[in-house]
Amino acid sequence: MTSGGRSRSGMLNFFILESQNMNADGKCSFDEQEGKNGLGNHEHADYIVTGAWSSKAAEEAEKYIKVKKVFQPSKPYVTVPDQEKWTHDEKAAYLYYCANETVHGIEFTPTAPESHNVPLIADVSANFMARPFDFKDHGVVFGGAQKNLGAAGLKIVIVRKDLIGKKQGITPAVFSYKEIIANNSLYNTPPYWRNLHS
Ligand SMILES: Cc1ncc(COP(=O)(O)O)c(C=O)c1O
Repeated sequence: MTSGGRSRSGMLNFFILESQNMNADGKCSFDEQEGKNGLGNHEHADYIVTGAWSSKAAEEAEKYIKVKKVFQPSKPYVTVPDQEKWTHDEKAAYLYYCANETVHGIEFTPTAPESHNVPLIADVSANFMARPFDFKDHGVVFGGAQKNLGAAGLKIVIVRKDLIGKKQGITPAVFSYKEIIANNSLYNTPPYWRNLHS
């Protein structure tokens, strides 16, 4: 269930995290983890909000870093607005987007947004392995396995090597990429399928 290694794209450490992603207060979120891990010394992060999941991600990230939305989202979410009009900041820690907004059906295709020289962070939960993915300019690519790959509760995270270890001091060990890699994705117990037919 776990593996570590290099990919041809230069991204490395494909690993599967254990996954209820629960905090002490019982909250559950991918995005909190991305926020805590990706900060470095930056003061803010840029967010592309194109639907419900990226909206939740931006809201959650505000607990850990100043969030700037590259455009003011307007509901109903129906499209990816014209990128020429977005406001980017090259000092952002990262630029976050959801590759496919499941609820609203807004997908970045065929390419990811322009990175503007900051690492892209992509939530690929709803289109991972469904189409070729260009890892260029990405710092973190992550997704829940339950839609396209496998067991609910599993999370796949692909992290650019230089970003590993740039976490906030408050990051619990179980959410730290460095810790997870050091423990070969087995810092805690991963979910697994039991073979009920044996
Ligand atoms: C694109 C996307 N991101 C994040 C999530 C959240 O996943 P979970 O409910 O497993 O936390 C979903 C769930 O449907 C999703 O479709």
